[in-house]
Amino acid sequence: MDWGKQNRLSRIIKPATGKAVMLAVDHGYFMGPTTGLEQLDQAVNPLLPYADTLMLTRGALRNYIDPGVDIPITLRVSGGTSILNKEALLHEGATCSIEDAIRLNVSCVAFSILVGAEYERDTILTFSEIIDEAQAYGIPTLCVTAVGRDMVRDARYMSLASRLGAELGADIIKTYYVDGFDKVVDSCPVPVVIAGGKKIPELEALQMARNAIDAGAIGVDMGRNIFQADDPVAMIQAVRSVVHDGAAADDALGLYQSLKSGEVGAAT
Ligand code: R5P
Repeated sequence: MDWGKQNRLSRIIKPATGKAVMLAVDHGYFMGPTTGLEQLDQAVNPLLPYADTLMLTRGALRNYIDPGVDIPITLRVSGGTSILNKEALLHEGATCSIEDAIRLNVSCVAFSILVGAEYERDTILTFSEIIDEAQAYGIPTLCVTAVGRDMVRDARYMSLASRLGAELGADIIKTYYVDGFDKVVDSCPVPVVIAGGKKIPELEALQMARNAIDAGAIGVDMGRNIFQADDPVAMIQAVRSVVHDGAAADDALGLYQSLKSGEVGAAT
């Protein structure tokens, strides 16, 4: 693999553990001011020391994030519909050029393919163009799969969508955790991370992360289950303990509760 691309990937997937905690705050690209991200900078700044990369749009990056901060950026470069449209998330195109991604010094670009949706061909072909352009500059690509209301989220579908993304040339696949997730990972030749999905109780989110890692995922690309937690700074550290330190979900919940109550200090 090209040195520059490997270097960028190594900034996200930490060589010491081979794992990654990706903090997703790109929801505004179709949902507007999502609960917890109304003041994105205030929500995100305290979380940055515990994130391996920040996933967001170029507008959020330019308007909310200090360029002096040391955090690798995963830039969302797809969009085109809003939550007000019944086709929201089912028909995305490119929303940012590779030149602007380079100008923003990003470590990765992320694009949604809508496998099984009416416009799957458009998204697959546009993502292929993005991969060609990113590849020319050594920028890794993350393929977001399996979003959309009507998709049956099972291991068969996730395997299909994930393998498809990898065969297109993506470097990382982001998908959702399902029963039989080891089959999804085993048939995908590139690293897989899971999205968190809608907010669920902390223990369930930590158990889902544990199960995904045990099945072979290299990490999480998690948003709402971190920034909508009662204590987001405690939650991201608990998630980190699962992903990087091999913590059981119960132990991670204990860490969350201790940090939340102020019983133990934040990790450095
Ligand atoms: C969806 O495609 C967005 O990219 C979100 O970043 C993604 O779903 C992860 O966020 P959450 O953990 O809130 O689902």
